[in-house]
Amino acid sequence: MVFKSILRPVFFKVSADDPEKAHHLVMTSLALASKSKVLLSIIEAAMAYKSPALARTVFGVDFPNPVGLAGGFDKNGTALPALAALGFGFIEAGTVTRYQQPGNARPRIFRFSENEALINRMGFPNQGADAIRARLARSPRVKIPIGWSLGKSKVTPQAEAIEDYLYSLRQLDDFSDFFTINVSSPNTPGLRKLQDKEPLDQLLHAIVQETATLASQQGRAQPKAVLVKIAPDLTQEQIDDVIDVCLSRNVNGIIASNTTLSRAGLQRATTEVGGLSGRPLHARACAMVQYICQQVDGKIPVVGVGGIFGPDDAKRMFDAGASLIQVYTSFIYEGPAIAKQINTGLLQYTHDTH
Ligand SMILES: Cc1cc2nc3c(=O)[nH]c(=O)nc-3n(C[C@H](O)[C@H](O)[C@H](O)COP(=O)(O)O)c2cc1C
Repeated sequence: MVFKSILRPVFFKVSADDPEKAHHLVMTSLALASKSKVLLSIIEAAMAYKSPALARTVFGVDFPNPVGLAGGFDKNGTALPALAALGFGFIEAGTVTRYQQPGNARPRIFRFSENEALINRMGFPNQGADAIRARLARSPRVKIPIGWSLGKSKVTPQAEAIEDYLYSLRQLDDFSDFFTINVSSPNTPGLRKLQDKEPLDQLLHAIVQETATLASQQGRAQPKAVLVKIAPDLTQEQIDDVIDVCLSRNVNGIIASNTTLSRAGLQRATTEVGGLSGRPLHARACAMVQYICQQVDGKIPVVGVGGIFGPDDAKRMFDAGASLIQVYTSFIYEGPAIAKQINTGLLQYTHDTH
């Protein structure tokens, strides 16, 4: 309430020319809070929402609740403790690339408040796998599962994409509960081509093999789980191909979906290039999750993401078959209590049905 009526208008006003300013303000505050035990416990006391009824185990990982923060918010993993204190059940950090890169020129995030939507063309700005590994090695582990999202560096030629992903995977293996293979951002030229059957098969074969090698080197029985995040713009045949490859390569789950190139659902005409997220994506993301769940028939779990703003949207995504959900754009529009709001509502549903 306070967020929507007071804080949000201020944040949006000071960042009217470049919404990324608000993002950096929030990230700087969260990164600072992450260093203070006192602040973390205050945030946790106000925001976290714990109930055994919300906990679940998916792809071998224990989640305190099913509401995660989607990839791209904490790109370098600098605010993981504070984000965990806000009550998320897990965080997908990144997307990280092998090489440090600045991303596209700013402005590269655009707000469409009337539709509770965003267009972004960030292009994976991040500090690179080496620097992120070095910082994580000096930081305490957070208590919730962390998945690192891996992407391809812009400078890496398409033919060397696999080695790029493998490099980041090795660097971040010690700090990951699972990995997301991001082949669906629209903002790195050629990245989405990695969703095609043959390149995807080669990539996932190499990734799954590498996680097995790393597990055996470290005497772990279970390799780290590997998930694949896909685009909502795939045709049904392309989705079928992705599913075939994921099942045959023993991938542990599919995340649907990333941002869309479609502009359907936006009231205001725009020529901004990039991926659309938020409310206009919701129906498509739910339909995709439902289709994938039908096709995989319980063999692997599906993580639902796209335009989830509250418990009703979350329930729709779970009814479509999702095992876990993630949010990004609603964190911007609804504020820091989003995980608590959704979890409180979900618990209400379970009480109502028992
Ligand atoms: C500003 C911004 C940056 C994003 N960066 C990434 C990213 O680096 N990696 C990724 O997999 N997804 C990224 N996403 C996509 C989100 O993780 C999510 O899939 C998408 O926004 C749909 O969910 P939403 O409607 O809840 O935002 C980004 C989204 C936004 C709005």
